[in-house]
Amino acid sequence: MKIVVTGGLGFIGSHTVVELQNKGFEVVIVDNCSNSSEKVLEGITAITGTSPTFEKFDLREKTKVQDFFKRHADITGVIHFAASKAVGESVQNPLLYYENNLNVLIYILQELQKKTKAGFIFSSSCTVYGQADDLPITESAPIKPAESPYGNTKQIGEEIIRDTCKVAKGLDAIALRYFNPIGAHPSGHIGELPIGVPQNLVPFITQTGIGKREQLSVFGDDYPTKDGTCIRDYIHVVDLAKAHVIALQRLLDEKNEQNFEVFNIGTGTGSTVLEVIQSFEKVAGQPLNYKIVDRREGDVIAAYADTQKANNDLGWKAESTLDHAMDSAWQWEQKIN
Ligand code: UD1
Repeated sequence: MKIVVTGGLGFIGSHTVVELQNKGFEVVIVDNCSNSSEKVLEGITAITGTSPTFEKFDLREKTKVQDFFKRHADITGVIHFAASKAVGESVQNPLLYYENNLNVLIYILQELQKKTKAGFIFSSSCTVYGQADDLPITESAPIKPAESPYGNTKQIGEEIIRDTCKVAKGLDAIALRYFNPIGAHPSGHIGELPIGVPQNLVPFITQTGIGKREQLSVFGDDYPTKDGTCIRDYIHVVDLAKAHVIALQRLLDEKNEQNFEVFNIGTGTGSTVLEVIQSFEKVAGQPLNYKIVDRREGDVIAAYADTQKANNDLGWKAESTLDHAMDSAWQWEQKIN
C-alpha cells in the first residue's frame, strides 16, 4: 500500500518512514529540505534495505500538490509532518507559520476529499492544552487559547480536519498530540539534526556534552514542582514513530470509532529538567555544564500525558525509558560529530 509522508526527511518523519517500510508499506516522501537533508535517505535505506521514493518540492505550491496527487492516484494514506515548529520564530513571523502549517494542510485535504477512501494522520502537539488544569492530561482536557502562532496552527489544523471529515465521506483522520519527542534510531543511522542553536532541551544537552555549546541554561528553578524545574513527558522518537503506523493501520482497517479521532502520544511519566540532565550524566558518564537562569517566557509548568486512550483504543504504548532515549540521543550526537 502506498503512503505519502510529507516532511519524511525530518526528525520524526524519517523514523516513521523506517517503521512504515519495516511493516511493508510503500513510502513516497515529499520534503522541500528547508529543515532537513537529502542524506537522511541514505540512513533510511541503510536501516530498512529499501530506498523510499523521494520527491523534492514545496507543498505551498498548490498546483504541485494537485499534480502530485494526480500522478499518485493509488495513494491510500498520508502522514503529514511537513510544518514549521519553532515557537519563538512563529511569534516573529506568524504569516509564515499560517502559510506553512495551514495552507499546505488545506491543499492536501482538498486532494484527499476527492478520494473514495483515504486515511490521514496529522502531527499535532500537547501545546494545544496550554497549562492544563489537571495532570496527567487527557484528550478531553479543554483546549486553551494558544500561546503562540505555532500552537494556534495546531489548534486550527485540528479544527480544519474535523470539519473536513464531517463532509468528506471517504476521509478518516487521526491527530496525534505529541508530548516531547527525543532520542534517535538505535542503529545510529538517523536522528535529530537541528540547524543552528537548538531550541529544544535534549539536543542542547547533547551538544553541550560534546563541547559544541559551552553551557546549558536551565530556564527557571522556582516553579511549583519537586525540584523547581518544569516537567515534561519525554518520548523516544521510535515509540512515537510506531504510533503513526498503528494509527494509520487503524484507519486502513476501519477500526476507528469516529472519522476524526485524537490521541495523546506520550509516556505518561513527567520528568523535570534536572532529571533529564541527571539521566544524561548517567548514560554519558560525564557531568554536564549547566546553570540556572530566569524562566523562559511561555513555558508551561508541567505537561504529561494520560495515555489510557492511546493504550486502550489505539493499542499503542511507549516502551522506552528516559535513560534509554537519552542514551540513543547521546550515541547519535557522538556519531555526527
Ligand atoms: C514546546 C511544546 C511542544 C512543541 C515544542 C516545539 C509544550 C508543553 N510543549 O515544547 O508541544 O512541539 O515546544 O518546539 O508547550 N529548557 C531549558 N533549557 C533549554 C531548552 C529547554 O531549561 O535550553 C527547558 C524548558 O524550559 C522546558 C523543557 O526544557 O521546561 C523542554 O523544553 P523544549 O525542549 O523547548 O520543549 P517544550 O517547550 O516543552
